[in-house]
Amino acid sequence: MVKAVNGVSFDVKSGRTLAIVGESGSGKTVTVLSLLGLIDPPGKIVSGEIYLDGRNLLGLSREELRRLRGKDMALVFQDPMTSLNPVFTIGTQITETLICHMGIAGAEAKIEAIEMLKRVGLPHPEKIIKRYPFQLSGGQRQRVMIALALSMNPRVLIADEPTTALDVTVQAQILYEMRQLIKDCRAGVILITHDLGVVAELADEVAVMYAGSIVEYGDVYEIFDNPLHPYTKALLKSIPRLGTKDEVLRPVLGQPPSLIDLPGRCAFLPRCEHGAGGCRAGVPSLEEIIPGHAVACHRVITAKPEEVTLRALA
Ligand SMILES: Nc1ncnc2c1ncn2[C@@H]1O[C@H](COP(=O)(O)OP(=O)(O)OP(=O)(O)O)[C@@H](O)[C@H]1O
Ligand SMILES: [Mg+2]
Repeated sequence: MVKAVNGVSFDVKSGRTLAIVGESGSGKTVTVLSLLGLIDPPGKIVSGEIYLDGRNLLGLSREELRRLRGKDMALVFQDPMTSLNPVFTIGTQITETLICHMGIAGAEAKIEAIEMLKRVGLPHPEKIIKRYPFQLSGGQRQRVMIALALSMNPRVLIADEPTTALDVTVQAQILYEMRQLIKDCRAGVILITHDLGVVAELADEVAVMYAGSIVEYGDVYEIFDNPLHPYTKALLKSIPRLGTKDEVLRPVLGQPPSLIDLPGRCAFLPRCEHGAGGCRAGVPSLEEIIPGHAVACHRVITAKPEEVTLRALA
């Protein structure tokens, strides 16, 4: 049995953005697909709880969950081409969604659709609604997806690498627009990305995932200014910075472990600069070291609080 995600726990508050970061295969997508009840068999959730406004989603029927998806929990994926239906116009897809989920009448839905496209920065929305997805650029399609997701006034917005497929200038525009829209709609946002620049731009809290578990969790300023886990530190060091004398690119060396048969010790140990004998003493659990800042690292957990702060500063 492969545990793609194991023991992950977090809260997302209304109006706040939680970023989940971590390298490819660390379990970010599986985590959010679990929230939405979209894990395909033979994959399954073997235990745990998922609460939305006090309601345990794991106790809901498939039909109840289906109604919740799109309405209360909206999704924006990396590639909008796979989420938009290729054989319907943009207008049809938006108005159908509004009619189904919001109970708005046809003519009113069309006006609302145009209004929504305007809000996400699409020029000439009255022309866009007559087009098919293939007639739009990648950036335009992603804007349509964001408009669709936010049109339902969701409680939770899940965005899985929403700007990764776009070029850098469009990415910046879309991030700026997303930040405004998120502020307006007061949804709780889960943002998955491997781009720490995006995290710095949008996140309030950050969860760093490694091999299916959260290894560090905290306020975005804490994570950037005071990273405690060696993996988070390595991720931050790997960002190339223009204009500094240090021109060497510093990758996180080594490979992530196979999730089949994870070792009964810290999964990051073979890649860790600070690894020691004590790191073999079981899998470290996520412990709150400083209020609101948790880390799963034997060395940090066993160090005295003043050492943690000093080491983090160093
Ligand atoms: N049903 C399944 N059976 C076996 N392995 C699975 C299954 N679903 C996911 N996995 C594995 O779980 C791991 C986590 O996958 P996931 O898609 O969540 O990664 P990710 O962090 O989103 O990566 P990326 O940044 O590349 O999108 C991967 O190694 C994947 O192959
Ligand atoms: Mg993914």
